[in-house]
Amino acid sequence: MGASMRTIDTPRLGSRHLLSILDLTHDELRATLALAARLKTERPLGLRAPTAHALDGRHIGVLFEKPSLRTRVTFTIGARELGGDVVDIPADVMHADREPVQDVARNLERWVDAVVIRTFAQERLELVSRATRDLHVINALSDEEHPCQALADLQTLQEVWGDVRGRTITFVGDGNNVATSLVHAAVMLGAHMRVATPEGFELPAEVAAQAARVAADGATLTTMHDPREAVAGADAVYTDVWTSMGQEVEYAERKAVFFPYQVNAALMAHAAPGALFMHCLPAHRGDEVTHDVLEGPTSVVFDQAENRLHAQKAMLVMLLS
Ligand code: CP
Ligand code: NVA
Repeated sequence: MGASMRTIDTPRLGSRHLLSILDLTHDELRATLALAARLKTERPLGLRAPTAHALDGRHIGVLFEKPSLRTRVTFTIGARELGGDVVDIPADVMHADREPVQDVARNLERWVDAVVIRTFAQERLELVSRATRDLHVINALSDEEHPCQALADLQTLQEVWGDVRGRTITFVGDGNNVATSLVHAAVMLGAHMRVATPEGFELPAEVAAQAARVAADGATLTTMHDPREAVAGADAVYTDVWTSMGQEVEYAERKAVFFPYQVNAALMAHAAPGALFMHCLPAHRGDEVTHDVLEGPTSVVFDQAENRLHAQKAMLVMLLS
């Protein structure tokens, strides 16, 4: 640990990994977001930032089995800004006919401190994390969850609102990885979540039970099929692609089913005045969101993208320091 790191008061996380927002306690989630806000303020200090040497001598592997712009670039830059070294690991090492993922993990733990993995089933992340004793595993998106996105999303909302407690956030579209992690983080911080999906595309059944278990300050999760009812009076409206990575063959079928769930000016008119528009990006203008809403004055999508950097740097410090 660099001398300057000793000036940073970060609680040691109970979990060695970030596979899910549910790996964090309420206090750890709040502390991560507070550190993320601080790292954002201190970024202009560059090498004079108190965290510039936080990861000196540490190696972080980056292994993506799906495309990525934001997550890959922000983890790479973020680790380097903390003094760490980044090793790009090609995705083909994860092919089952090469070696079991557990063996990949047991090799990696001999060389790197942490591995940031974007993959398909969440189970693959669990296999990697269970196969090792020392390696830190960070979920850079799985089919089921996208915790790093949710950290940046809640950082963005805290910047605008101060406190998210009692606010209403509506997710419209597919009950997917982004929606699941958003629900986890939002209710842990006391915000009400509404999720409107077409029939057959609801959040996984277990998410309601998870939300009920971790909800704080009276936060609720309400699921429905009517997007207008879900958006009525909401303080923020969030959507994501209708066809996630790996589902491309379903694009035409999904486009027909999801069209009534497009976030456009008519739908936003049901939200609270000044309601924020949110999207994890990449966005498909004309599908899940119209150009005017994405580019509108209350859209915070590029703030969310920027905050990926700060939130993930905070996570790296919390996990590795
Ligand atoms: N939002 C997000 O995770 O973007 P990338 O797929 O570009 O990493
Ligand atoms: N739900 C999308 C998110 C992309 C960042 C996907 O999984 O492709």
